[in-house]
Amino acid sequence: MSLVEQLDKNFDEAIEALKKASDEEQVEAVRIQYLGRKGIITAVLKQVKDLPPSEKPVVGQKANKIRNQLEEQIKQTTSNLSSKKLEAALKESTFDYTLPGKLPPQGSKHLISQITEEVVQILTGLGYQVAEGPEVEIDYYNFTALNMPPGHPARSLQDTLYLEDMKGVDQAVLLRTHTSPIQVRVMETKKPPLYIIAPGKVFRRDIADPSHSPMFHQIEGLAVAEGINFSHLKGTLEVLVKKLFGADRAIRLRPHFFPYTEPSAEVDVSCALCNGAGCRLCGGNGWLEILGCGMVDPNVLEGVGIDSEKFTGFAFGVGVERIAVLRHGLDDIRRLFDNDVRFLEQF
Ligand code: DAH
Repeated sequence: MSLVEQLDKNFDEAIEALKKASDEEQVEAVRIQYLGRKGIITAVLKQVKDLPPSEKPVVGQKANKIRNQLEEQIKQTTSNLSSKKLEAALKESTFDYTLPGKLPPQGSKHLISQITEEVVQILTGLGYQVAEGPEVEIDYYNFTALNMPPGHPARSLQDTLYLEDMKGVDQAVLLRTHTSPIQVRVMETKKPPLYIIAPGKVFRRDIADPSHSPMFHQIEGLAVAEGINFSHLKGTLEVLVKKLFGADRAIRLRPHFFPYTEPSAEVDVSCALCNGAGCRLCGGNGWLEILGCGMVDPNVLEGVGIDSEKFTGFAFGVGVERIAVLRHGLDDIRRLFDNDVRFLEQF
């Protein structure tokens, strides 16, 4: 048998052996047997250099060709075997790889935070700056400095959560009942012109029911400068309400009383459901109360050393839960504090 015939025979045998191989180890054994350092085809390749020049090219080319073909065949067989192995493993397992994955639940901002941020954004857009004050407040800032001297009915024990007497504090300490004390704290430290908003938690001695909560949120507004008048107040509130509730909503101001503003007003927004005609949502009168406001009382300005002849100001306070109720038709503000995601994720 010539060397070329020998090579063809070896090749055929090797291919037969590969066909029978049922795992990667058996394939490797075939490779070693034919192409390994001491392999059958390797041995022929080694003999080529000793052949007479007339035979060298023919046998050399044939041997190289067969080696390459066999290597290719080995690669193919290995990859076929491993995909068969994977297929078998997948069949074995009960896991359905075609099912879509489960997304982890994603949190979002609480409705109260969303509304607060929205109001802050609207008013900072008008040039207001955000101020903060403590939730634990002293009597002076919460009441006295706001024109509510001791004995004033607005300080009612029924509304206020007092803390036990505090060492070194010569007056009552309480959880602030509104964000208005921040007005006083700001005016004490900064000179007009002042344009301030102050969001925060407030606390009252109320039993929780559909429209009350012992803790709720307010946003206070304060503008003090020369020449500020009531029409500035109304214009500012109109911008705020229309941005919050829609450009087609109207506001109306009703005379009211707050000790720290004179004159004072309550502001209503036209009912979204009936547009002023009267319906179930607005209790038949076409308007929904939204906030309290007024011109800062000269007594309050003088109390913080601001010349009330030179400067005037307006102030307003709006309840964040109130905005949520009006905007989303909530029937119970307690849902806002239950931390039930089935409710909260709707906003
Ligand atoms: N502090 C008031 C309240 O808690 C709201 C309020 C009314 C704030 C009139 C103001 C204001 O600044 O001028 O009900």
